[in-house]
Amino acid sequence: MNEDKLELFYEPINLGTNKTDIVFYKNIDLLLTAFFADTVIQGIDGKPVIISNKKQRRVFVTDTNVAKLPQFKTFISTINLKEHSLIILPAGEKNKTIENVLAIAKTALEDGHMRNSVFTGIGGGVICDMTAFAASIFKRGAKLELVPTTLLAMVDAAIGGKTGCDFDNWKNMLGTFFPAQKLYDCPDFVQSLSEEEYRSGLGEVVKTGMLYAPKLFQIMSDEKQKVLSRDPETVYEIIKRCSLAKANIVQRDLMEKGPRMELNLGHTFGHAYESLAGLGKIPHGDAVAWGLGRTVELSVVLGYCQNDYKNDVFACLNNYGWSTAPIPPELAQDSADSLIQIMHKDKKNSGEKIRCILQKELNMTIIEEIADSDIRAVL
Ligand code: GLY
Repeated sequence: MNEDKLELFYEPINLGTNKTDIVFYKNIDLLLTAFFADTVIQGIDGKPVIISNKKQRRVFVTDTNVAKLPQFKTFISTINLKEHSLIILPAGEKNKTIENVLAIAKTALEDGHMRNSVFTGIGGGVICDMTAFAASIFKRGAKLELVPTTLLAMVDAAIGGKTGCDFDNWKNMLGTFFPAQKLYDCPDFVQSLSEEEYRSGLGEVVKTGMLYAPKLFQIMSDEKQKVLSRDPETVYEIIKRCSLAKANIVQRDLMEKGPRMELNLGHTFGHAYESLAGLGKIPHGDAVAWGLGRTVELSVVLGYCQNDYKNDVFACLNNYGWSTAPIPPELAQDSADSLIQIMHKDKKNSGEKIRCILQKELNMTIIEEIADSDIRAVL
């Protein structure tokens, strides 16, 4: 041992967060029975082992939108509240606060939950992120399972362990990395979403298609009718393709040290738009969709990509009613400087310059630090 130095080595933080099962359920009723059903896993000797979920205590967290769905009304009335806890938070981005994260932790504490209780978030990205954040800090880490009920949460937010809440009008400024042990996916949820919520999810779908999945981009470009009518097979295919693409990246780079940053395509512009408009005013996926347009425009300005690709992306975005204008219609036309100022706070930045995710073409992405003047040229 060196006389002046002690080296300490640790086991990985938060055991049990090293694997996520994404299980698809045929319908919502089947999904809801799964919380209390026994599960069979493969033992180390290869033989099946039955894990009883019947005694597993849970902290259910959901929001007012989900709680009013008919299946959930019935489900909620059957929860044994002596064993389990139920927290129903107000819906929407403006409620993605540290106060609500602490409210989840407080209920769990008051109801006597331990680290082995399963925090179970049932909702869109806001509920999944806040439940996961609360689970990650409760007694230094409890168990976590998520039921994403919006397209956006199924294709993006619930996968890959990002947790958090907004803070001081900055989006997702507080948070941790803490993957769920299980995701319960059911494409049927998509049928009950409002038009606004559904379209918001589609923004992230276009992003994933541009990044990794040409077939997905083609579906979004060529099969608008099936997509917009929520054709069940198309919806399932979209969710499956996005889940596979995202799983592939987060397995390689959970903590966003390298390739995972690509998932922020369109987000540098999109987050700035959301913040400037006031968090909760613009649906996240709509802001990302506008950001995708600005990103390819910037990629053309910097000489990385050809107009042909930009035109394909613009056509796809316009097809779903998203603006490809330099400044989105909801913002004042002289918002360029304010947007750039907000972009300087982006979590991806590590120096003075704004770090942007750019594209050479479909499925070919680069990450670069960009001068403000270049960003200004596309706003
Ligand atoms: N939503 C981007 C990510 O999960 O990294």
